[in-house]
Amino acid sequence: MRSLSYVEIHFHLLPGIDDGPACIEDSLALATAAVSDGTGTVVATPHVRAEYVADPTEVPVLVGELVDRLGRERIRLDVLPGGELAHEIVERLTAPQLEAIAQGPPERRWLLLEAPFEGLDAGFMAAADELRTRGFAVVVAHPERALRTRETTIALEHELIAGSVLQLNAWSLLGLYGEAVRTEALRLLRVAPRAVIASDAHDSARMPALRPALEALRAAGESDPGRFVGPGPRTLLEQGLAAGQAAAVRT
Ligand SMILES: [Fe+2]
Repeated sequence: MRSLSYVEIHFHLLPGIDDGPACIEDSLALATAAVSDGTGTVVATPHVRAEYVADPTEVPVLVGELVDRLGRERIRLDVLPGGELAHEIVERLTAPQLEAIAQGPPERRWLLLEAPFEGLDAGFMAAADELRTRGFAVVVAHPERALRTRETTIALEHELIAGSVLQLNAWSLLGLYGEAVRTEALRLLRVAPRAVIASDAHDSARMPALRPALEALRAAGESDPGRFVGPGPRTLLEQGLAAGQAAAVRT
């Protein structure tokens, strides 16, 4: 892993399989933009849900093909296999399918679980609990973009008690989704231990944006925002997360 550069743990980089880049040329453009943004490592996280990637075991193969192409193009970016997991699909996935898109060392593997835009609910909590029961910790993708209902608040508290990490979108901090989302992202960044920031890049309309997000955080008074895009996500990849707290918080 490139030690002095940023690490993106939520990034749609694989071509033609979800609502990310449509073709390999668009993938290469996104990868080049990530390098220019200061990033050295990207976890490629296509949507894992019925209409996109229904079988995650194909992700490592596709990442291998992309890594080969990046090497031929001399684009210096490490790419690892991951997925943005929809909670509705969790119970249908086998252990090898989950393992194919998990990150972290053995016994401390974690998965990126998508916060639904319509809000988190009991179904989301059940899926997260199931992942922990099956040995995987949880990183919650862009919770600031979820509709803020009482159930959302309860589910997020449940996840924080269970030891989950929150991943906030750089574009939320830059105001792309409005002031309410920006304010919520700033609040979660300050209350959630080990929160990290990622671009959730898709295409030319949503490019890598870690560096501008750091500038926005500095302008908002944050003294050391670099930890959210460097040491924080790098620690997740190298040291993983413990998944052993599901039983303690399930009621
Ligand atoms: Fe995403």
